Amino acid sequence: MRKFLMTTALALTMSAGLATAAENVEVLHWWTSGGEAAALDVLKKDLESKGISWTDMPVAGGGGTEAMTVLRARVTAGNAPTAVQMLGFDILDWAKEGALGNLDDVASKEGWDKVIPAALQKFSKYDGHWIAAPVNVHSTNWLWINKAALDKAGGKEPQNWDELVAMLDNFKAQGITPIAAGGQPWQDATLFDAVVLSLGDDFYKKAFIDLDPEALGSDKMKEAFNRMTKLRSYVDDNFSGRDWNLASAMVIEGKAGVQFMGDWAKGEFVKAKKVPGQDFVCMRFPGTQGAVTFNSDQFAMFKIADDKVPAQLAMASAIENPTFQSAFNVVKGSAPARTDVPDTAFDACGKKAIADLADADKNGRLFGSMAHGHANPAAVKNAIYDVVTREFNGELSADDAVKELVSAVAAAK
Ligand code: BGC
Repeated sequence: MRKFLMTTALALTMSAGLATAAENVEVLHWWTSGGEAAALDVLKKDLESKGISWTDMPVAGGGGTEAMTVLRARVTAGNAPTAVQMLGFDILDWAKEGALGNLDDVASKEGWDKVIPAALQKFSKYDGHWIAAPVNVHSTNWLWINKAALDKAGGKEPQNWDELVAMLDNFKAQGITPIAAGGQPWQDATLFDAVVLSLGDDFYKKAFIDLDPEALGSDKMKEAFNRMTKLRSYVDDNFSGRDWNLASAMVIEGKAGVQFMGDWAKGEFVKAKKVPGQDFVCMRFPGTQGAVTFNSDQFAMFKIADDKVPAQLAMASAIENPTFQSAFNVVKGSAPARTDVPDTAFDACGKKAIADLADADKNGRLFGSMAHGHANPAAVKNAIYDVVTREFNGELSADDAVKELVSAVAAAK
């Protein structure tokens, strides 16, 4: 009897210990803008409703460059967070280092293999094992246009390069800043994703996915840089270093006509209570209709102390819940990471994002975003960023940019 009581007491203490440790997740992320924070809150509240508390580790900086630097320091110090917002090839790099945990049990119990598209699984799995939980799918080849400005410009959505330039000239004549831009390397690269894609699916694939030196050094690439120079002539004097969400605000407030940005920008419009088709227009970058350059935010799950693993697994499970996927992505501006989530709760742009993604996937027109780490590992991505930014800022001619692109990519490969 005494032995039984002692065993029971021990079991109770242990489970109590587990319960306490299981209650918390520490999450590193770069979701610090108004729209991003609102989406993050959906996740936080969802976990809190399941008895899991949240320790926030925000690292500001769109695209996540700064967050990745902080992460490296944390892991080197032997103090990895529970879960980390991460993009594409970065996840695989950490997996290669053996730093990530294993989500196989949850994934197989919940049938993730069947509902998460292969394009995402490529980054959620390493060596056949689940290492990350995808929370969304964003895409980068979008335009976010102020509706009143577009109406003044004749109301027609530009279908090709010439019509795009005509619209920008009209915005200039209206006395507003034609393009709301934030001069940061990842933002320049986001625009470059769309410009390169607009010169052909095949060109995008050869240049950014295959890293084919011929495509990187081609006349088409020179044309892409020339278009960047042209677009640069429509930004305001204060664009350098501006955060992307402040650029979104310029369009929201009617101070600028259009922003070229991934659909996280829509999170800012939604947060400002703006309605698609009424206050703003979302459309694909002219010449890229039907094709999608995507990136997916995933929570990479790090190897952590055993007693913290239950909370980590509970977080992964909560992220893949279809109801959560809908609630979160409606606010974030992204499409769900599962193919079985109804689009009912999404606005017109969200419905379009979901449909475009499915079509592009079906038609072989879905490509990983170079700017957001889904085409190449960080070393190559950063080499491309550097050339694109220097050209955009007039430090390189289009001719020199093409040459530098070829050599920078070769050196980084
Ligand atoms: C992420 C988005 C984020 C954006 C701006 C992208 O790389 O995928 O979730 O909103 O950066 O911070």
